[in-house]
Amino acid sequence: MSDQVKPRLLRALAGETLERPPVWFMRQAGRSLPEYRALREKAGDFLSFCYNPEMAAEATLQPMRRFPLDAAIVFADILLIPQALGQEVWFEAGEGPRLGALPSIEALADQVEASTGRLASIGETLQRVRAELEPERALIGFAGAPWTVATYMIEGRGNKREEARLWAYKHPDQLDALLDVLVESTARYLVMQAKSGAQVLKLFESWSESLAEDVFERIVIGPHTRIIEKVRAAGVDVPFIGLPRGAGAQVSNYAARVPVQAVGLDTQATFKLGQEIQAGGKAIQGALDNLLLLAGTPALEARIDALIEAWNQGPYIFNLGHGVMPSTPVEHLERAIRRVTGK
Ligand code: CP3
Repeated sequence: MSDQVKPRLLRALAGETLERPPVWFMRQAGRSLPEYRALREKAGDFLSFCYNPEMAAEATLQPMRRFPLDAAIVFADILLIPQALGQEVWFEAGEGPRLGALPSIEALADQVEASTGRLASIGETLQRVRAELEPERALIGFAGAPWTVATYMIEGRGNKREEARLWAYKHPDQLDALLDVLVESTARYLVMQAKSGAQVLKLFESWSESLAEDVFERIVIGPHTRIIEKVRAAGVDVPFIGLPRGAGAQVSNYAARVPVQAVGLDTQATFKLGQEIQAGGKAIQGALDNLLLLAGTPALEARIDALIEAWNQGPYIFNLGHGVMPSTPVEHLERAIRRVTGK
């Protein structure tokens, strides 16, 4: 790939400091866009939408047509893996995900090989998007990280994660076995995504807050590292972004130990934390508050400038600390992207 068309996102992930950072937003495809809401009406239930390559590719591309973003993220969900492993998953309108009873670990383990095949349509979505996306814009594939996915599998819904943490303490052996199943199925799924055109792979650890240091080591650092090792062993060398959201004081340890190319930072990350990670040789991504984007006051531009001044002295990817809120006005997204890109 010549440097001229090498996507800005890939240059930052290779450790380059750029004159302006690449920009994309978590949940850039979704309910903040009127065209998404129209497509959603036609698509039926949310999971059928995710498994329909034509519609999922369209949802992935909608924000790319509207905004000068540097990367697309495939339209899918972290809860496709538990469904592919045989646990019932559905979305309750206005409430979010629901899952049936947790199958036995043996039953889940039996489904690991078959699970990748059940997710083949996501590969087709990636191929369709890659065929339409300009070469200078990168395509990101993703999966939920094992602990975050396990919290939904254990609690049956997006709850306070206390039930899952309690279960983890009461059933340590089962938790380890569950995480092993998720490590294996997730690694296979990510390999499939890379082979289908994903140029970057992202692990969403959305719920890594409140974990004691030894637990964080065992259920976050360990599984993330094993997934990346398995993906590398399959001959896939695309860069990884890891987002240990809420990990606070343990983010430094995550950055030092997990072989990701970039660490996703959340809203509470200090400038100093980001700079230390860059000094340690990794790129960082983040960390505009999604509620400041929603508010859209003049503080929005001021904060964007401050983030860029502090972090664009090293490899930096501009993003939010968490996904775009569904009620965010399109005009606020335009303003933020314009402030970063000048376009
Ligand atoms: O644009 C993108 O970021 C790509 C697509 C994407 C979705 N979900 C689509 C989606 C991605 C990367 C995800 C990740 C995801 N899914 C996470 C990790 C990131 C995070 O937000 O912490 C989690 C925890 C989930 C599980 C999930 N999916 C929840 C809790 C919900 C309900 C909450 C909500 O916003 O409704 C979903 C549904 C979901 N996933 C929607 C979208 C666009 C909304 C569904 C709809 O249109 O009705």
